[in-house]
Amino acid sequence: MMSRLRTIILAAGKGIRMKSDIPKVLHEVCGKPIIQYVLDVAQATGSLKIYLVVGHNREAVRKRSAAGLVVVNQPRRRGTADAVRCVERYLKNCRDNILILCGDTPLLNGELVKNLVYQHQQAKAVCTLLTAIVPNPQGYGRIIRNDRGAVVAIREDKEVRGAERNISEINVGVYCVRCPELFDALRSVRLNPKKKEFYLTDIIALFHQKDFKIETVATSDPSEGLGVNTKEDLAVAERITRERILKNFMRDGVTIIDPYTTYIDADVQIGKDTCIRPFTLIEKDVRIGHRCVIGPFARLRPNVRIGNDVEIGNFIEVSRTRVGNKTRIKHFSFLGDATVGSAVNIGAGTVTANFDGKNKNLTKIADGAFIGSDAILIAPVVIGKRAVVGAGSVVTKGTVIPDEGMAVGVPAKIKRRTRP
Ligand code: UD1
Ligand code: CA
Repeated sequence: MMSRLRTIILAAGKGIRMKSDIPKVLHEVCGKPIIQYVLDVAQATGSLKIYLVVGHNREAVRKRSAAGLVVVNQPRRRGTADAVRCVERYLKNCRDNILILCGDTPLLNGELVKNLVYQHQQAKAVCTLLTAIVPNPQGYGRIIRNDRGAVVAIREDKEVRGAERNISEINVGVYCVRCPELFDALRSVRLNPKKKEFYLTDIIALFHQKDFKIETVATSDPSEGLGVNTKEDLAVAERITRERILKNFMRDGVTIIDPYTTYIDADVQIGKDTCIRPFTLIEKDVRIGHRCVIGPFARLRPNVRIGNDVEIGNFIEVSRTRVGNKTRIKHFSFLGDATVGSAVNIGAGTVTANFDGKNKNLTKIADGAFIGSDAILIAPVVIGKRAVVGAGSVVTKGTVIPDEGMAVGVPAKIKRRTRP
């Protein structure tokens, strides 16, 4: 039987190297906070409980993290060992395995971590850690092995000397440890005099001295271990995540003409046979149906829902808007806070003026409506089914164009239509 698992996520660090007022773990990678990637991994392992250690700017982190977590405060930032120790009072008499993750590793693969937990349980190890062979180990803790290949310690970057500098096997910062042995060892960790921190990684040498079983799982993809410490790391994480997202879409049948100029946030949904043309940005919380054509040069912002067989052409911005099936919005338009029905034609240059300086107002365009080129719809407005707005019209605030109706001019006047 699999023994029970609890997860501790360390996210109290200041992230000094980010040179930012925003807590490090709240920086976004492809539109999703770094910490959310780690929480997703923790959830995927089937943890009984997740303990999130926060400190610096704790309110911001607390607010942004999902319900159901135990948020633990680390009063002073005294290192990763101290951060884990802050969770001890929640784990009195606990005999489960503890998975420890760093809050700043957005590229971590859930399957890999699940596998690490599995290996740990199979091997009945006291501690199993994730390692990676990386081209540039600078900044990471190095895995020190003896001549029999057994792990004897982790040496932090600041402490490495001589030949150890060239060790390319690094500590990713993912550990599965038996709870009683973990807290026992933490009591023996001494303050690092140089950094004035308690290093979690010191538990490895302590375990080795006691002859405890230490296992490692190596990732074949070194990028999975990337810890985001600087804005440069953030850009690397963004690039790799973006590549992964695009790959997944192509695998699922979405056509991406030019991955190099296509930007799609995490957790976006796109139906198969939709084609994303070059220079397109699709932000978080967007869902697109099947067989649509998007771009080139389109920007879909959060809270957008696009039906099937929709065409969104060049220089189109869409925000907080629903678009029904078979609607066409093909040339330089802005739609914000709108509900657009199906088989609607939005003419070139159409703009929903959704913001009146105080409030965001809604535009409703019903099925089959035809909006002529260069129309301005000053929200709130309602455009009825199969209604027509003449080219160049300004439809003023509060206008309701009835079904089959027509409005033309500046300001637009509602006219009877001779021919529907
Ligand atoms: C740490 C590891 C290093 C590993 C690297 C992987 C230690 C001592 N070193 O180094 O071996 O290669 O991660 O990315 O653990 N944190 C707290 N409270 C603290 C300090 C840190 O919660 O007092 C959190 C941070 O928010 C971060 C994580 O712990 O999410 C790791 O801390 P960080 O300072 O980034 O450690 P590294 O120097 O990257
Ligand atoms: Ca780090």
